[in-house]
Amino acid sequence: MVVGFNALDLDMLRARRTMKWSRYPPDVLPAWVAEMDFPLAPAVLEAARGALDAHDLGYPESAGLAEAYATWAARYQGWRPDPALACPVADVMAGLEAALRVLTEPGDGVVLLTPAYPPFFALLKQLGRVAVSWPLLDRPRGWTVDLQRLGDALRDGARGVLLCHPHNPTGRVLTGEELTAVSEIVDARGAHVISDEVHAPLSATDVSFIPYAASGSAAGAHSVTITSISKGWNVPGLKCALLQAQPATAQVTASVPKYERLRASALGMAASIAAWTDDGGWIDELRVHLDRTRAELSHWVRRTPGVRAHPGQAGYLAWLNLRDAGLGDDPAAVLLNRGRLAVSPGRDFALPVEQGNGRIRLNHGTSLPLLREALRRIDSTIDTIDGHRYP
Ligand SMILES: Cc1ncc(COP(=O)(O)O)c(C=O)c1O
Repeated sequence: MVVGFNALDLDMLRARRTMKWSRYPPDVLPAWVAEMDFPLAPAVLEAARGALDAHDLGYPESAGLAEAYATWAARYQGWRPDPALACPVADVMAGLEAALRVLTEPGDGVVLLTPAYPPFFALLKQLGRVAVSWPLLDRPRGWTVDLQRLGDALRDGARGVLLCHPHNPTGRVLTGEELTAVSEIVDARGAHVISDEVHAPLSATDVSFIPYAASGSAAGAHSVTITSISKGWNVPGLKCALLQAQPATAQVTASVPKYERLRASALGMAASIAAWTDDGGWIDELRVHLDRTRAELSHWVRRTPGVRAHPGQAGYLAWLNLRDAGLGDDPAAVLLNRGRLAVSPGRDFALPVEQGNGRIRLNHGTSLPLLREALRRIDSTIDTIDGHRYP
């Protein structure tokens, strides 16, 4: 299969009705919300069209969904979760909510790696749980998990860990040793992990992704996994995700009411089964393409004074530190106003918000030409800052 990941048509993109492509005027290049610019995988498109053509949009029978995921996980991740312990939910956030309700109580602390995907903060607040910041450490070799800090948070009473693995916004994939260390700490405190693995299908081709629940027996006994094709196959609007429990956490799946399971859409379910049982050609090529956009970005970071970032290991989101580029605490605002580039403000991801000062999240899930144009807009914005590059 040869897919034209680099042949994107701007007019077609601008005609999309997604938030990404309709929120800003046409002279703004959008590189913010987590949505990619590529045409859909043929298998996904065919499945959705097939359901429409067959007028097959009633309440979907969900039996095949968990089976399809188990097949995909066995092939790509080397584990075969039990389909009987899984159930459909409307989206990843709904799955996280269902798991948090069972595994934690109102008032409990829930630990999350920060910076974090902003809706996690809103979800915890909505559920009356307390977000406990677990800051990733910025070390010369990359983002590092602070095991001591995790231990302290759980010792101080936090009951859950909302793990984002791979991590949004840094793209960090935890190693087997890190996962084991985390699971030992969680196990010792009798807490639980809810692992959001929605970005896992887009792991870099040289990174081996290990699902948290598959990283050891302790991890399996205290965790659930939430996943979806929404990020990997770029269909968050289709509304379908999977909550996958383990034997020791089976109560989480059992607690999801029937009406909640029926919120997964018929189109989303047909598309998910197709994506997870496809021959893999499209997602494999996409991963190679994203290796290239990641490499392009890293190359730019290395040659751009004032910009710092650690190379990502998965997905198409990058966490950039522009503190020394002279764009102030909120570079996203300056980039939008002067550079006509829409990126996500770092402060939205931070706890406390100051952790996000000078930071942005950039979406590189696009063609190389459009990524280069986004980087050119950052360059020219930096160049407009008096005294920065040409003192
Ligand atoms: C880590 C993570 N979790 C969850 C979501 C939301 O997924 P969904 O739209 O399926 O709820 C996103 C979206 O970007 C995400 O990055």
